Amino acid sequence: MRMSLVPESALEPLIPDVESPGLTNSGRRMVRLAAAPLSTALGLHERSAVDFFDALVALGMLERHNGYYSNTPDTEAFLDRAKPSYAGGVLDYSTTHLYPFWGALTQALRTGEPQNQTIGGDRFFDSLYRDPAQLKQFMHAMTGVSMGAAMAIADVFPWHRYHTFIDVGCAEGGLAVQVARKHQHLAGGGFDLPPVASVFTDYVRSSDLQDRLTFHPGDFFTDPLPAADVLVMGHILHDWSAPEKRQLIDKAYAALPTGGALIIYESMIDDDRRTNAFGLLMSLNMLIETKAGFDFTATDCRAWLHAAGFTTTSSEPLTPSDSMVIGIK
Ligand SMILES: C[S@@+](CC[C@H](N)C(=O)[O-])C[C@H]1O[C@@H](n2cnc3c(N)ncnc32)[C@H](O)[C@@H]1O
Repeated sequence: MRMSLVPESALEPLIPDVESPGLTNSGRRMVRLAAAPLSTALGLHERSAVDFFDALVALGMLERHNGYYSNTPDTEAFLDRAKPSYAGGVLDYSTTHLYPFWGALTQALRTGEPQNQTIGGDRFFDSLYRDPAQLKQFMHAMTGVSMGAAMAIADVFPWHRYHTFIDVGCAEGGLAVQVARKHQHLAGGGFDLPPVASVFTDYVRSSDLQDRLTFHPGDFFTDPLPAADVLVMGHILHDWSAPEKRQLIDKAYAALPTGGALIIYESMIDDDRRTNAFGLLMSLNMLIETKAGFDFTATDCRAWLHAAGFTTTSSEPLTPSDSMVIGIK
């Protein structure tokens, strides 16, 4: 069992209780534990442990066979902190940030005002990045929440037609790493606020891609965007008001060569505003977290791209919640 809560050292003495451990796809042993040693390893009370484990089984987060619990292939890949594929940063961010702020949802719904640390006029990213630990946690959260979309973009976008790309508002560099890993001919990197530089550099170096991926510090409202064949904006536009969204699209258009592409990916709401609950709740999250941000449909986004001058636009689903819109200049 390598639940993210369990330090590996705590598990080693429990190995004798393991039932026929199999190998994971990374070649490491997938551990299976009975309820008693698992709850000892986690320090859980006997009253809570079995309900908790079985709730995780019912949610598809654990498997249970003959009374032995193990990760599912997905939780083994994405919720083991020891793996580079760990995507649980967003859960940490939810625990410390989002849950308490969502407690004020009623107030947000009645006032239209954010309910987080930006109360009092602070800009969301300025106040968040003042504390290096919070900055790091937010960056990990972004890598986690965008991992599925980033992998899909690396797979489905026709990268062979282009040579350079920049992820605008790149955070830690999750998308840049996925794309560069898969397409050896590409060079590029990320553009983000200056405090993000060190987390991007560390993450890119841990993937040994520092020769092809460079960090460009700047503010996308006051600085020009770096030029590249492809610009990407992931979960950027939803942070901002409609005029600010259009300003950012105009800046991307100005930075692209003729034939260049802008990829916008978000939890885009379905046109009928009926099925993508994640996208609609994300928009309410923008209500709670930002001054004027909101999520939108692919049709809205394509209209903004055409208004900025993009000649061709298309949209494509990436994950059950995220889609991308592509504009060609
Ligand atoms: C919601 S996160 C999205 C991160 C990443 N693109 C993703 O999809 O996971 C927004 C990103 O925009 C960056 N950002 C916010 N304001 C910015 C500004 N004025 N100039 C440049 N980057 C900014 C933040 O630092 C953060 O990395």
